[in-house]
Amino acid sequence: MQNVILSVLIGMVLISGCQSQTGTTTKHPIAIIPAPVSFTQMKGSYSFTDRSRIIVSPLNTETRVVADFLAHMISNSSGMDISVTDGSGDARASVYMSLDSSVKNAEGYYIKIDRRSVTVRAATPAGLFYAVQTIRQLFPPEVEAGHVIKGMELVLPACEIIDEPAFVYRGMHLDVARHMFSVEEIKKYIDILALHKMNTFHWHLTDDQGWRLEIRKYPELTRIGSFRKETLVGHSKQKPNIFDGVPYGGYYTQDEVRDIVDYASSRFITIIPEIEMPGHSLAILACYPELACTDGPFEVATTWGVFHDVLCAGKEETFVFLQDVLSEVADLFPGKYIHIGGDECPKTRWEQCPLCRQRIREEKLADEHELQSYFIRRMEKHLFSIGKEIIGWDEILEGGLAPGATVMSWRGTEGGIAAARQKHRVIMTPNNFVYLDYYQCEPEGQPLSIGGYLPLEKVYSFNPVPAELSTDEQKYITGVQGNVWTEYISVPEHLEYMVFPRAFAIAETGWTPARLKNFEDFLVRLGTLTNRYDIMGINYFRGEYRDTRKP
Ligand code: ACM
Ligand code: ZN
Repeated sequence: MQNVILSVLIGMVLISGCQSQTGTTTKHPIAIIPAPVSFTQMKGSYSFTDRSRIIVSPLNTETRVVADFLAHMISNSSGMDISVTDGSGDARASVYMSLDSSVKNAEGYYIKIDRRSVTVRAATPAGLFYAVQTIRQLFPPEVEAGHVIKGMELVLPACEIIDEPAFVYRGMHLDVARHMFSVEEIKKYIDILALHKMNTFHWHLTDDQGWRLEIRKYPELTRIGSFRKETLVGHSKQKPNIFDGVPYGGYYTQDEVRDIVDYASSRFITIIPEIEMPGHSLAILACYPELACTDGPFEVATTWGVFHDVLCAGKEETFVFLQDVLSEVADLFPGKYIHIGGDECPKTRWEQCPLCRQRIREEKLADEHELQSYFIRRMEKHLFSIGKEIIGWDEILEGGLAPGATVMSWRGTEGGIAAARQKHRVIMTPNNFVYLDYYQCEPEGQPLSIGGYLPLEKVYSFNPVPAELSTDEQKYITGVQGNVWTEYISVPEHLEYMVFPRAFAIAETGWTPARLKNFEDFLVRLGTLTNRYDIMGINYFRGEYRDTRKP
C-alpha cells in the first residue's frame, strides 16, 4: 500500500527543496496569506544592512522569542548579524518593535515600513509574532532556504499594514493514530501553520488503531496499544479486506511531546491533545480488557471504521484510569483545553452490559445517550478540578451538554448551531468544507482517499458563522479548523499533498473578514507564494483548484 502511494506521488513530482539559490532577489510580487485587513503600499523600500538592529520595548522572554525569530530569519538567509536589544545606549535601530495597548485586538498588529525604519506594534507578543509572519512573507522567498545565500538582499516594500484576526480560534488537526508522523514532520507542519497565522494544533493522539502518547502510569498503552499487527490495504469498502501483514506502530515519548509543545509555543501555537473516549478506544481495551463491557480479548484495530467495543461506563475503574491518564496529559500540555473525543460511540455494548444498566438506573438516566452525557460530564468535572476545559465532537450534544464544554461541529454545521443556541462555544470543522482527507479534485488518477470531493474553491468558500444564528448566538462561534484523518495517508509527502494548499484557504477563513475574502485574489497570491513553498520543501497539490462540479 505504502509503495503504491509513494509511486503515485513520485509521479506527481516530489519537491526536493532549496531550488533557486543563486543571484540577488530584490523584487518579488507582494503576496500575503491570510490577506491583511488593510495594506497600503507606499513609494520606496527598506533594506537591511549589517548595521540594522531590532529594538524591542519592553524586551522580555516572550518579546525576545519574536525578535529572535526575525533576527534568525535575517541572519540565516543573508549572513547579516542583526542584534536584538532593548535600545539602551544604541540609537541606530532599524526595527522598532513594541507592545502597545492602543492596538485593540489581542492578536492584531500594526506595521509601518519606510526607507529608514520598520515599526511594529501589537498589544501582545502574539500580535508581534503575526507581524513578523507578515514581514516573513514580504521578504523574498529565499529567506526560507535555511542557509546563507550569497548576495541575498533583504528588502521590504514601504507600506502600512493594519491587521487583526476575524476569529480567536484558527486551527489544524492531525490524526497520528491511524498513521504516525515523526517529530520533525510535526514541527514542519506547525511551522507552516504559524506562517499563516494559525494558532492551534489539534493533535489526535489516540484511536482504535493505536495509542501514541507515553503515559508513565500505564506503560501497556505504549507497549501493546501503540502497535497493530498489520494494516488494511486498499479502501475499507473493498471486500474482501486485504492486509499487508506488516506490524505498524510507534509513539511519542513525554520528552518528545515537551519538545513539540515548546516548539509550538515559540510560534504562538497552542496544542490541544485529543484523548478519545468512550468510543474509538480499542487500543486501550487491547491493553486493559477489564475496562470493557465484555470479556474480550481485544486487539488494536487493523481496519478503519467504528467498532462496537468501547469503554464501559458502568465500571468505576474506567473513570479512575481516564482521570489518571488525563492528569498526565494535563501536565504535558499547558493549554487550557483538552479534547475528549466523544464521537462515534455505538451504544450496543452499553445496552447489554449489567453494569452500564445499573449506572443508568442509579443515576436516573433516561437512556444510553444520557449515559454518554454522564460520562463526559464526569470527565469535565475532573479536568475542571485540575484547571482545564473540555472540547468534544458534536456527539457530546446527545443526552445533554456538559456545562462548560466547547463543541467541535464536524457532521456539518448543525451541531455547532445547536451548541451556539445553548450558549456554548463552537469550533466549526464541518466535513463538507474542511475535511482535508477528502479528494481535492476528480478522484481519477489521485492517490486513494476516504472519498468525498472538496476542491480548494469549496474549502475557501466556507463561512464559519451560520446565517441562521442571531447576532448574539453568532458570538459563540470561536473559529474554524481543518481536519486531517490519516487512514489513507501514511507518508509525509502524501500528507502535505492533501493538506496544502487547502489549509491556507482555512487560514484565510480564520483570519480575514468574510467581506474581504476573494477566491480569485487568493489564487493570485497563492501562485506567488508557491516559490516560497517550493523552497520550504512543501509537497502541495498543484492540480485543479476550482470546483468543477459547481452548477
Ligand atoms: C470525526 O470525524 N469522527 C470527528
Ligand atoms: Zn458496561
